Amino acid sequence: MIKVAGLIKRFGGQAVLDGIDLAIEQGEIVVIIGPSGTGKSTLLRCLNFLERPDAGRLTIGDMEVDVTRATRADILTARRRTAFVFQNYALFANKTALENIAEGLIVVNRWPKARAHARAREILERIGLADKADAYPASLSGGQQQRVGIGRAMAAQAEVILFDEPTSSLDPEWVEEVLGLMKRLAAERQTMLVVTHEMSFARDVADRVIFMEGGRIVEQGPPDQLFGAPKDPRTRDFLRQVLATQVALDVPE
Ligand SMILES: Nc1ncnc2c1ncn2[C@@H]1O[C@H](COP(=O)(O)OP(=O)(O)O)[C@@H](O)[C@H]1O
Ligand SMILES: [Mg+2]
Repeated sequence: MIKVAGLIKRFGGQAVLDGIDLAIEQGEIVVIIGPSGTGKSTLLRCLNFLERPDAGRLTIGDMEVDVTRATRADILTARRRTAFVFQNYALFANKTALENIAEGLIVVNRWPKARAHARAREILERIGLADKADAYPASLSGGQQQRVGIGRAMAAQAEVILFDEPTSSLDPEWVEEVLGLMKRLAAERQTMLVVTHEMSFARDVADRVIFMEGGRIVEQGPPDQLFGAPKDPRTRDFLRQVLATQVALDVPE
């Protein structure tokens, strides 16, 4: 389980996260939606200390810390238990697909190279890129690069994979293959926290959808409820705007 309570993050005096309480069960698929600039990325980044939060308690598995007092060891533990999939893939340009997936196992988990490479080959099979083991990122399509990014997160065997708009940088033709891989992971009950604007993915795959605005969770619920009967006017406004540009889904007035 991963849980935050009273999470606050300020930038220059302004609270970008203004008291977030969130618990995700093992095997749960949670999608976060909300306008841009609302703190979604900052929330994900705080969960593995890419940003240092200003207040709150963080629980990941058997680790529980006051985030302002987290030691270096706590931060390493949080990073080992949360894997991150970035919008812009963040692959090493000078490493092959196989090496990108193996790197964390070697550096963070201290696996011998041969074992890490064997595991990376298994992952490449699972993400449908066995024939691209020796390819460098520049020779891969955006969709393939992001599948490697997801493969790297899979290799980490983290408690939760955090996805920050994993398809937003992709040309439209690559979106489905990345969403397809994420759907397979969801079907295997990999715990996932996904920030996305892909509403049909949220509707089909999420156990729970969270609407955030202004650094707060405004509303959350199962997708049928959040999309079909949103309670807060801010949720309704946001859904109407987003869905106007996407697949037609009815949002009641
Ligand atoms: N490193 C930073 N320094 C200062 N302000 C930041 C930083 N990162 C994010 N912000 C600000 O925090 C707010 C939330 O950003 P972000 O979490 O990226 O929102 P979202 O992912 O929902 O679009 C924005 O106003 C953004 O400009
Ligand atoms: Mg963001």
